[in-house]
Amino acid sequence: MANLKDVHGYVDSHADDFIQRLSEAVAIPSVSTDPSRRGDVHRMALWLENQLKRYGVQTRAVPLGQQEVEGKILEYPPAILGRIGDDSKKKTILIYGHFDVQPAEKSDGWDTEPFELHVDRESGKMFGRGSTDDKGPVLGWLNVLEAHHALRIELPVNLRFCFEGLEEDGSQGLDDLIVTETSKGPQGWFHGVDCVCISDNYWLNTRTPCLTYGLRGIAYYQIIVSGPGSDLHSGMGGAVYEPMTTLISLMGKLVSVEGRILIPGVYDGISVADSSELQKYQDLDYSVADLEKVAGGPISLSDDKATVLMGRTREPSLSLHGIEGAYSGAGGKTVIPATVSGKFSLRLVPPQTPDDITKKVVSFIEDEFAKLKTKLKMKVEFVGGGKPWVADTNHWSYEAAKRATETVWGKTPNYTREGGSIPVTLTFADNLGVNVLLLPMGRADDGAHSTNEKLDISNFLNGTKLLGTYLYEVANINSDK
Ligand code: BES
Ligand code: MN
Ligand code: MN
Repeated sequence: MANLKDVHGYVDSHADDFIQRLSEAVAIPSVSTDPSRRGDVHRMALWLENQLKRYGVQTRAVPLGQQEVEGKILEYPPAILGRIGDDSKKKTILIYGHFDVQPAEKSDGWDTEPFELHVDRESGKMFGRGSTDDKGPVLGWLNVLEAHHALRIELPVNLRFCFEGLEEDGSQGLDDLIVTETSKGPQGWFHGVDCVCISDNYWLNTRTPCLTYGLRGIAYYQIIVSGPGSDLHSGMGGAVYEPMTTLISLMGKLVSVEGRILIPGVYDGISVADSSELQKYQDLDYSVADLEKVAGGPISLSDDKATVLMGRTREPSLSLHGIEGAYSGAGGKTVIPATVSGKFSLRLVPPQTPDDITKKVVSFIEDEFAKLKTKLKMKVEFVGGGKPWVADTNHWSYEAAKRATETVWGKTPNYTREGGSIPVTLTFADNLGVNVLLLPMGRADDGAHSTNEKLDISNFLNGTKLLGTYLYEVANINSDK
């Protein structure tokens, strides 16, 4: 693997350029859930497409339709598809990533501007929204392409890319795109793909790289309670039914303080871990202290590491996220809010599906609401979701990733399942019928979605080497092809 050495050398000597490019990407506030930022998500799509073109990747920006927000039509950002290499003797790897990010405001509690990459050389960390989720990893692939292009080295595999700008908003249109392309047969963009590699999750701790073979699904809801014609002075309290009181009562019935979901039937069909599976969790390089460090407080639900790991990855959970319409400003306000909407979601594991869980959630909440016998109105809405995914690690792609990890990090990876969701993962697995691997770049304490999100410089550079090395290991490995 003489070429690979040169690629690693290129990464070392171009570290500053790579960091500079990450600054450029972070400076585009491509927040998909905020309609006022939609122009920036489109700008980010174009930026990424141009980067790919620079390295000889053939691209296509695929429109994904429109949405209506408060009477205005908004164009969804396009998916950026790419392809490079068409050698039938090589394997073909499909890379997925997303170029949209979660919202961020300095006033949320950031120490630096979220959309200006702050490179702290002393700690070796780069702070900025999207640094780890998912711009750093996406740029890792660009770095690999750049190294090969600049050194005039042929890639060891054919590559296909699928980048989207709506992941944080539910991946609208992407499933349809994948189904459509698959139905085109040999003319489809993903035809001939041998496996999928996604870099969009994190290590279990801050020291051991991992390969990830499972993700939880998600089902997101809101409960809307209304009645008063407008917000009322709480001097009216005692005379009328109050939406907040009903909403809090309903939300309080969904889950126990220990995290047990109280909706009948939600645990149906979920397997119980046998002793060999339990052992796998015990064997991982992980501790309750790792969890509490990342959580920022001594709040773990159990003192047993296997129990907490399974709780966050192989069992479902229900989280209460927020209440829209309730008073949340500083100081007191003596008001009875007129309409309140309580938001919560469940993380799902096989065999749960959003459809099946929605039936149980809606009928439970409607029954509980009926028992309250109030004169208010209540509606439960399913907002969006995705199915859970678990892969077979007994596959050449995982073996290649393991070898690459050992080469670059000098450590055997943890094999993990994740508590978060990337809904498109299962769509790829089901439609293309190939193995999917999650090969993360960042660490457990990166703070995706949180304030002061960061990526360590070493994870960005070694992560780039890892992605590159993985391609060489894939090319060299013994498989059916
Ligand atoms: N990169 C995350 C997925 C993730 C999160 C993997 C945590 C592993 C651990 C992704 O960008 C994400 O945030 N997904 C959303 C999906 C949702 C909006 C449908 C999630 O998990 O909340
Ligand atoms: Mn992500
Ligand atoms: Mn995310």
